[in-house]
Amino acid sequence: MSKFYQLKVINTQQETNDSVSVSFDVPYELYDTFNYKPGQYLTLKFNIGGNEFRRSYSLCSSPVLEEPLKIGVKRVKDGLVSNYINDSIKAGSTIDVMPPGGRFFADVHKDNYKTYYLFAAGSGITPILSILRTVLLTEERSFVHMIYGNRKQDSIMFREELNKLEEEYSDRFSLIHTLSRSNSSWMDMWSSDNKEDFRKGRVDKAAVEWFINEYPPYAQNAEYYICGPGTMIENTKKALKGIDVPDERIFIESFGTEKVKSFVEGIENAQLTAQLNGETISTKISKGKTVLRALIDAGKEPPFSCEGGVCSTCMCKLKKGEVHMQNNLALDEEELNKGYILSCQSIPLTENVEVEY
Ligand SMILES: Cc1cc2nc3c(=O)[nH]c(=O)nc-3n(C[C@H](O)[C@H](O)[C@H](O)COP(=O)(O)OP(=O)(O)OC[C@H]3O[C@@H](n4cnc5c(N)ncnc54)[C@H](O)[C@@H]3O)c2cc1C
Ligand code: FES
Repeated sequence: MSKFYQLKVINTQQETNDSVSVSFDVPYELYDTFNYKPGQYLTLKFNIGGNEFRRSYSLCSSPVLEEPLKIGVKRVKDGLVSNYINDSIKAGSTIDVMPPGGRFFADVHKDNYKTYYLFAAGSGITPILSILRTVLLTEERSFVHMIYGNRKQDSIMFREELNKLEEEYSDRFSLIHTLSRSNSSWMDMWSSDNKEDFRKGRVDKAAVEWFINEYPPYAQNAEYYICGPGTMIENTKKALKGIDVPDERIFIESFGTEKVKSFVEGIENAQLTAQLNGETISTKISKGKTVLRALIDAGKEPPFSCEGGVCSTCMCKLKKGEVHMQNNLALDEEELNKGYILSCQSIPLTENVEVEY
């Protein structure tokens, strides 16, 4: 069940012209409920203009520090919730928040001896920052190499904090900023003696190849964490595959900016049977609707968050029938083969569909 808790905002801070960080006060009795791994996200629920909206935001704070849970939210052009948070959320506001979730996280342990490669672009820095800080604080023998892409210098989120970490952990942490639209010349940025070096260009295939070449792994056990826009994720993955990095060492979080990949109308009034929260539910799915929406329309409370095929909160198992998934950025081949589907993306293709949450 998607249970939400009212959390109080204790602080907001402007990070760049178009982004803000928001910190939450978690009452003592909810500490365990809001425990998280570095890389996981919160789902926030808002009522704007009489309608309910849910959005996911990755935690940028570190679970090993006794610090408030913090998210960083970047404005999206014409985006409803990101602009609402930037404009209207202040210290003292209360927000409905679902406990942390998500499968993108690093299993940090003090005995680990690894090399972490972190690839971030734009607001994709949020889960990466949490992983970075947690690894540096916990794993004294691990090394971290990070490349962070932005348009310009002033669009870099958490810039000061990153620079401080680079100074403090200079023996184990290297950071490359890469800018796609800087005013400085390429040579200025490339050859800068400044501690804060800037490379020119995006986090693309060439940049990733250069980066790995420049910072070869110290420990055999290397892991690769990627978060950013779809093209950046694809290009980074391609470059890593090109140097034979195995799939199981590559971890990806997408914020879901992609368009719907394929659309079908499905069939009219399919019969849905769902096992949910210990209950067997029977309802109809009208044409074009998803399994998730049919359950919500029936007054039920299936788990969901992004409703974009990205976060996997709505995952369930297809026991009978066939569905078409419009978008899937969350389930891997193995899960699909086992019959898992994203209910927020699943349109029925057969008259009877049976699912189990
Ligand atoms: C697991 C997960 C973690 C996330 N973590 C963060 C985070 O830490 N920080 C953060 O700022 N965002 C994060 N997001 C994205 C966030 O959930 C929202 O999707 C984003 O804030 C846009 O919501 P909106 O209501 O403003 O835009 P909407 O009103 O939903 O969309 C408006 C328009 O913008 C496009 N659009 C939607 N999202 C984006 C985007 N991210 N970039 C470009 N165009 C977009 C849509 O296609 C649409 O046309 C995360 C998403 C997921 C799934
Ligand atoms: S609710 Fe996020 S994938 Fe379905």
